[in-house]
Amino acid sequence: MLRRLYHQQPESFAFTPANLEWAKGQIEKYPEGRQASAVIPLLWRGQEQEGWVTRPMIEAIAQMLDMAPIRVLEVASFYFMFQMAPVGSVAHVQVCGTTSCMICGAEDLIGVCKEKIAKAPHALSADGKFSWEEVECLGACANAPMVQIGKDYYEDLTAEKFAWILDELAAGRVPTPGPQNGRFASEPLGGLTSLTALKKTHDANASVALATALGETIKRIDGSEPTATDLMRGTHRAKSPAPVPKKATKKARATGAGESDAELRDAETKGRPETGAVVGSKPRLLKKPRKGGADDLKKISGVGPKLEGLLLELGVFHYDQIAAWTADEIAWVDEHLKFRGRIERDDWVAQAAKLARGEDA
Ligand code: FES
Repeated sequence: MLRRLYHQQPESFAFTPANLEWAKGQIEKYPEGRQASAVIPLLWRGQEQEGWVTRPMIEAIAQMLDMAPIRVLEVASFYFMFQMAPVGSVAHVQVCGTTSCMICGAEDLIGVCKEKIAKAPHALSADGKFSWEEVECLGACANAPMVQIGKDYYEDLTAEKFAWILDELAAGRVPTPGPQNGRFASEPLGGLTSLTALKKTHDANASVALATALGETIKRIDGSEPTATDLMRGTHRAKSPAPVPKKATKKARATGAGESDAELRDAETKGRPETGAVVGSKPRLLKKPRKGGADDLKKISGVGPKLEGLLLELGVFHYDQIAAWTADEIAWVDEHLKFRGRIERDDWVAQAAKLARGEDA
């Protein structure tokens, strides 16, 4: 597979303030003149934030590290862990296809991906929410077959269970990661045969329980997360609980866990962004496109497949909706979808107005 810059690119990239602080900390680890050593962590954090590695991201990181952009591109295109094309706005699924998983049914899981997401790997699903690829062994062979979604492993899968997980994610719910056949970790399926006195302290194994409790499942990384050191020392401050949507389970309400980005956005539409501050005012949103279907929002310069997916998910389907946004409404959408000023910077409103009149943006 050729690994090169995707043919459509966003106009700009910027780390979130928290991620920028984190990036500076990475750079400071290295002696003067050796800042380029931070290229992989910075690319990785950029990908965690945006979902994939974009050209503006490569250029921004090159500038931060005093490197030629081509050198950063060489690193990004060499390592398969870097996604060089847009990924699903909800989830990018990595299916392990190596021996243990293959013997235990990985091909069935790939069949589910082809049926439910897209025929080819690295292509977006029709709604832009999902993408998939086959990867090499992810080190969970004792729980084969398995997939990685974001930072989470879903293990001991069957095709039916995996299809259900995708349906749940599409509906804005996050199934608990980890083994899906009743196992706690990788103990015998029939139960413990040694150390039988051990008591379970969590419903799921430790890493799953922690990710769920922190609400970190299938989430873009904005830098506000506690670091591993914070967690070890117990020095992190819990984030103020995000609004829990009505359909969340009792357990999820208790832990604040299980909300997907989409659900949080739903909750935020009631005027409570994650920060607790109300920014701007909510524009008119639609439940579905009008007859004739949604406009091609990618014709707006600065809107690629990923941003288009977010807009559609929010309820913005047409040029005239964007053309009618007031300054307050721009502020609301910008804050709500974390566009970091892109709407004004690229003048989406004027572009959308032209497109609505049938002119070129
Ligand atoms: S073979 Fe799939 S995780 Fe190792």
